[in-house]
Amino acid sequence: MSAAAFVPPSPSPSLTSLRTAAAGCTACHLHELGTQTVFGEGRASADVVLVGEQPGDVEDREGRPFVGPAGHLLDRALEAAGIDRSAVYVTNTVKHFKWTPSPSGKRRIHAKPDTREVAACKPWLEAEIAVLRPRLVVALGATAAQALLGKSFKVTQHRGEVFDLPPASRITATIHPSAILRSPGAESRAVEFDRLVDDLRVVAEELSG
Ligand code: URA
Repeated sequence: MSAAAFVPPSPSPSLTSLRTAAAGCTACHLHELGTQTVFGEGRASADVVLVGEQPGDVEDREGRPFVGPAGHLLDRALEAAGIDRSAVYVTNTVKHFKWTPSPSGKRRIHAKPDTREVAACKPWLEAEIAVLRPRLVVALGATAAQALLGKSFKVTQHRGEVFDLPPASRITATIHPSAILRSPGAESRAVEFDRLVDDLRVVAEELSG
């Protein structure tokens, strides 16, 4: 099934009506795993929409995107690139937390959403972008990039490049902040963090251009 059946009809639903409708979305089985739908949040007039993969454990409990460890790293990178988080809109490709229990059963371990789950949830992301009409969408990681740019898109090859995103936006992709957290060693984390900041500077430049 697809979330399309839950998206309020055009023309121009508001972000609030989308958020309310998404809270009751049962288009795929992930609503049974997650505590709640984690919809996007941020300024309705935002020029930039940042798109992650799916909420993590903290986001699932708080009901807000990018408020856990990856979100804190993202905040630092945005600040270093001169981008004010309160001026952007932040969302995810998939709006429910997909997880499996840790061997001890005490922790919820992130599980990557599959192609069907991404496809089922995509109408929400499309609706957010249609309402916001941002100048630039920033895909954070392969799940978001491939959902928006096609399955064969490779973030490692095309990070920081800017493409058209019809009908009205442009899009760029970079790595996911979680990939930096998973990077082995402080030195490689520092290098990857600087590269993320460089990619986000492209966003700042694109917006000032
Ligand atoms: N990772 C994501 O992709 N999104 C979040 O909201 C948190 C972690």
